[in-house]
Amino acid sequence: MSAKYVVFDGMDGSGKGTQIELLKQKLGSSVVFTREPGGTPFAEEIRKLVRDNPLAGESTPLNNFLLFWAAREELQQNLVVPSLQSGKHVISDRGDSSTFAFQIFGEQQRELISLFQVLRKQVFDLENRRAPDLYIFLDLPVQAARARVMRDVQREVTHFDERDISYYERVREGFRHFAKWSPVEFVDAAQSPQELHRSIARVLVQRLGREFTALLS
Ligand code: TYD
Repeated sequence: MSAKYVVFDGMDGSGKGTQIELLKQKLGSSVVFTREPGGTPFAEEIRKLVRDNPLAGESTPLNNFLLFWAAREELQQNLVVPSLQSGKHVISDRGDSSTFAFQIFGEQQRELISLFQVLRKQVFDLENRRAPDLYIFLDLPVQAARARVMRDVQREVTHFDERDISYYERVREGFRHFAKWSPVEFVDAAQSPQELHRSIARVLVQRLGREFTALLS
């Protein structure tokens, strides 16, 4: 069976990090785990710029949009393609679905949708490349997701924390729009971590096949 490329996405506070950790423990080295923005040394530098540097919060939505795509282009070339070619599945913490939800819907930049589609085609359709086979969105009402984020006292505060509730409502709407034309499964993130893990395992086995059956044990 060919290697699969899966993106996990959702609102901050959806429990995505915990779920990816559980998958790492069970799937081990048969899968390459990565994240966006980041995942290669150069893309991690772009991450520092676009996520950690407060100046990014003062720049334009278009600039942030382009930086997220720049990091993605780097990740495809130097990690996703070589991993898939060597037969390893790739699981990414976030992907282009985040750019669509945050930079276009959250930032109210719908005029960027056509540029988004152009970049998506350019970055994913180059030789040997492909768009993710599956996106798994951990879905949670905005108030619940924000409450979880605020309870997490160890979290790093970034310029992204200056967004208000209506921003996140738009982000959730963005994920729903993205799902209209992409292979997306929504999973209810209000479940306990163990229940959520079982739901994700079922989705992976149903959509991608027996190689993920180990997750159900
Ligand atoms: P991070 O602390 O890794 O968040 P999380 O653990 O919730 O994934 O920071 C990533 C932040 O970057 C998160 O708020 C979402 C945002 N982001 C975008 O705005 N656009 C993008 O294209 C990506 C990949 C992430």
